[in-house]
Amino acid sequence: MTTIRHNGVRRQRTADRRKKGSESDAHDFTAVVSGIRGEVRFKAPLRDFTSFRIGGPADVLVVPADVDDLCSLVRQARTAKVPIFVLGGTNLLVRDRGIRGVVVSLSKLSAIQDEPHGVVYAEGGIGMPTLMRHAISRSLAGLEWAAGIPGTVAGCVVMNAGTRLGEMRDAVKAVRMVDPLGHIVDCPASAIQFSYRRARLPRGIVVGVWLQLKSASRERIQTVVKEYLRYRKDTQPLTLPNAGCVFKNPEHEVSGRLIEAAGLKGARIGDAQVSEKHANFIVNLGRARASDVIALIKKVGRTVEEQAGITLELELKIVGQP
Ligand code: EPU
Repeated sequence: MTTIRHNGVRRQRTADRRKKGSESDAHDFTAVVSGIRGEVRFKAPLRDFTSFRIGGPADVLVVPADVDDLCSLVRQARTAKVPIFVLGGTNLLVRDRGIRGVVVSLSKLSAIQDEPHGVVYAEGGIGMPTLMRHAISRSLAGLEWAAGIPGTVAGCVVMNAGTRLGEMRDAVKAVRMVDPLGHIVDCPASAIQFSYRRARLPRGIVVGVWLQLKSASRERIQTVVKEYLRYRKDTQPLTLPNAGCVFKNPEHEVSGRLIEAAGLKGARIGDAQVSEKHANFIVNLGRARASDVIALIKKVGRTVEEQAGITLELELKIVGQP
């Protein structure tokens, strides 16, 4: 009897705490998004915002109207001690329980400005395909490597996205950021440490980038882009939801080759499958859960390690509530 009451009391207290917690969270979120001019959605499913079409909900999803709106959001979130996560790159897997706190989409930051001497300023929410079309229309070369990359400009800066034709660091002249205090700061490329699929930036959110491009023949740029798009279409599973390459290439090796050699092409857990076309891609056949993808990643890593003695390092970023 006593035990039951004790358990009952404990359970009640826990329930009260949980209720209090969620009420205070709700209160904090209201304060965090107060006066925000952009879109605000509570409990927004993130699967609609990821190229993998996988992911649980964000407590709050905010699409700031402009950079000033984002600055206000950053200040208010800081005051309320609520974390902010910025969606951007497509090399992303959001866990099934979603992301706590505020998730930001920069999709309304979509201006492009031409500056003298081949410099283009692109706001962070622009998709790489849009930016590339703009560069081609101005006969500016330097982004051909990105043909077929669906991520945002900011996402590509943050992970120094690249292909065998080049990478983001080749073109970045400077970056505009919103710092953790909610101020706009500009950061020259010399203050950023770029390495393979990585950029060490000051803390903050990338909201724009100045790119140094080069004048070139439009036909020539178009030819390179077309050829490269054809190569990707022939070798990568572009028609199924995916998040790009799952693993980085180890030094002097290619992950796709190692995974294929380990006999894993087509390996499947739930609706997550190692692509039949390119073994370093995992595709979502329909209703894949993040937990399926994670289990498959573990299986691939383990098998390659056993068979080739090489530890693969993730390129894909896994985020959200474990
Ligand atoms: N290969 C296999 N089996 C496979 C896949 C590839 O044997 O299943 C072999 C190919 O036959 C080829 C070699 O591996 O001889 C290289 O393949 P690929 O040209 O596809 O290049 P990758 O190294 O696998 C890299 C980037 C891709 C980028 C392509 C094309 C990394 C981790 N990946 O792939 O980037 O699109 O080059 O430039 O660096 C990404 O980062 O998300 C991404 C997809």
